[in-house]
Amino acid sequence: MDSIIVTGNGPLSGQIPIAGAKNACLTLMPATLLSEEPLTLTNAPRLSDIRTMTTLLQSLGAEVQSLQDGQVLAMSSHDINNHTADYDIVRKMRASILVLGPMLARDGHAVVSLPGGCAIGARPVDLHLRALEAMGAELDLRDGYVHAKAPSGGLRGGTVDFPLVSVGATENALMAATLAKGTTVIKNAAREPEIVDLADCLRRMGAQIEGDGSPTITVQGVDRLGGATHRVVTDRIELGTYMLAPAICGGEVTLLGGRIDLVGAFCEKLDAAGISVTETPEGLTVSRKTDRTKAVDVTTEPFPGFPTDLQAQMMALLCTADGTSVLEEKIFENRFMHAPELMRMGARIDVHGGHARVTGVEKLKGAPVMATDLRASVSLILAGLAAEGETVVNRVYHLDRGYEHVVRKLSGVGAKIERVKGQ
Ligand code: UD1
Repeated sequence: MDSIIVTGNGPLSGQIPIAGAKNACLTLMPATLLSEEPLTLTNAPRLSDIRTMTTLLQSLGAEVQSLQDGQVLAMSSHDINNHTADYDIVRKMRASILVLGPMLARDGHAVVSLPGGCAIGARPVDLHLRALEAMGAELDLRDGYVHAKAPSGGLRGGTVDFPLVSVGATENALMAATLAKGTTVIKNAAREPEIVDLADCLRRMGAQIEGDGSPTITVQGVDRLGGATHRVVTDRIELGTYMLAPAICGGEVTLLGGRIDLVGAFCEKLDAAGISVTETPEGLTVSRKTDRTKAVDVTTEPFPGFPTDLQAQMMALLCTADGTSVLEEKIFENRFMHAPELMRMGARIDVHGGHARVTGVEKLKGAPVMATDLRASVSLILAGLAAEGETVVNRVYHLDRGYEHVVRKLSGVGAKIERVKGQ
């Protein structure tokens, strides 16, 4: 297994291009299943999760071609000849559940393996299933699979009222509703930019959707959807992650393609911590306002609140802040696995249930550490950038799921970072 070696070496300067959003792309790709006509995505990120989704769609009979070094995905679902999403693929990536709504809406039946738990908590899919039931689907859970059937005549519009906000369940409901008969109202919908991006793409394909980006989305079902070409929205989590590099190390870095509206709540916390963020036509430019970062309290929430996917990286910043910060994780249980690893580097952190209390130290020290999940792994790299000496991050395959060219992007702004091949 490969490792990444980071050596703290002071201020960074230059530009980092931000890729298309992994999480948007993972929901836009299954949208191809809704139409017999081609769907082309541009600005796709080059990541192992995207390759997993490609394999899943191909296993169902879709054609997926990766063009222009993976930045363009040309898909066609003319012949869907298999309606079973197999456990062997689904277990690798939870987002696989997003093929359920589209297949059921288009062909009236689908069988999808239950994704099972993952490192950051139980993560059930009950809300996805409940949404499809509200559109008339009959569901049967057996042998670890969801067997779903639409009523004769297809899914019917209905009211989907989520008891809690779920990004994935909103996406599954939205895609299924585009081809359901009549009107579907999705209440307490997720408002993430990835939902708006999906709705934009579906509208290009001919769907009738209103209210995306607000808590209530209304979908008027249509008989069929056509083809489209769509550019994947900027990855706000990659953006926020790299914004933290100059915040932690000093210097000034511009994140090309960055937009404040994608990371508003995060920017407010950076401002309170003493980090300056300026929006320019090119992107976001980030630098420190003071020598030492100030402690701030952070609570993760659904969009437009502070994203859970930036909590680990923010913790890396607060490890060397002046004072004590409290981070509260409200989306996923068990999402502080990076804390013990940061403590190996000299951080002072107390975790109690959903709260982590971080008391800033002057300096972290490099150490061998273990990546435990995608966002945790990048938080260790960020911490290593500012630590004294060498940090070796092991198990970096997690990183390949969500960050393309991390070594190239960070060394491009002056960081000392290299990837070492495993035995
Ligand atoms: C998506 C993102 C992930 C991000 C998360 C929250 C993708 C591929 N992944 O994950 O990076 O961290 O949003 O912003 O887009 N829940 C249920 N039942 C369900 C579904 C969810 O109880 O059926 C719970 C979850 O356990 C969690 C909360 O709802 O506590 C939010 O999860 P959700 O928004 O669904 O996350 P994902 O869509 O899986």
